[in-house]
Amino acid sequence: MAEAKARQRGGYAEDVSTEQPVEGGLRFEVDGEIATITLDRPEKRNAQTFATWSALARIGESLPEQVRVVVVRGEGPSFSAGIDLRMFTPEGVPGQGSFSSAATLDGATFEQRIKQAQQGFLWLRRPEIVSIAAVQGHAIGAGFQLALACDLRIVADDVKFCMKEPALGLVPDLTGTKPLVELVGLAKAIDICLTARIVHADEAMRIGLAEQVVAGGDLEQAVQDKIAQLLSTNRDAATATKRLLQGARLRTLEEQSAAEGVEQAARIKALFG
Ligand code: ACO
Repeated sequence: MAEAKARQRGGYAEDVSTEQPVEGGLRFEVDGEIATITLDRPEKRNAQTFATWSALARIGESLPEQVRVVVVRGEGPSFSAGIDLRMFTPEGVPGQGSFSSAATLDGATFEQRIKQAQQGFLWLRRPEIVSIAAVQGHAIGAGFQLALACDLRIVADDVKFCMKEPALGLVPDLTGTKPLVELVGLAKAIDICLTARIVHADEAMRIGLAEQVVAGGDLEQAVQDKIAQLLSTNRDAATATKRLLQGARLRTLEEQSAAEGVEQAARIKALFG
């Protein structure tokens, strides 16, 4: 049923259990309730382009309804070395331009392009799914922000997070600043971004950037174990609980308590009504 729907929407679910190459240097696979997005340009350390972000957005738009967990991982030694450095050259990325060509656009047009790119990241927070970044090696710039776009980060002990943008004269603009501040606090986020320093595994764990640190060879198994735990809970209750947790920071205690009541009333009706 969900597969048929996804197919109707022109989604990626046509061969739901087979891995598919997607443009933008990605592979995408759906296996039942689990979707896996793999950054797949290891020879270029999974550098990202606008095509990568468009492809991510399309995966989000056509995600089969049965999916509960989305894993974002990188092939090879690095999760992602960030934006493709060809963007900084006059030639740019073939078919996608360069920062020089972007500088000739009016501000509103480029802002619109950034907004489109951000769509590739924002859907990873949907209440209906839990997204897990499996991060090894470098997660630089756009790579760090992609990891930050996910709900959970399980990292290898060789992880190197780096918000390189300010060192290159840019700001992080791929939705990473809010989750970073929420995870580590304003002072630590300023420290990490404005120095563009590397955050290693032990610090990532200590400051809340990572949920779990494992030896490199154990990363895949650790992710599988987390998926099994996540899938052991009731799907609708998990969605409603994530919705509650996501709203908690913005609500007063009284408002949050009321929201809990609303969600619970709906659960009781669904379960026992
Ligand atoms: N864009 C394009 N190509 C890249 C990128 C990138 N961001 N990162 C690495 N590559 C390429 C290298 O040019 C090299 O290609 P080649 O074999 O054709 O010469 C290949 O990937 C391997 O890179 P190495 O540097 O040889 O790999 P190493 O493991 O020694 O270093 C590291 C990895 C540290 C990630 C290094 O490649 C690096 O510093 N990359 C650039 C990181 C960066 O500044 N990213 C932009 C951040 S800002 C943002 O994302 C908005």
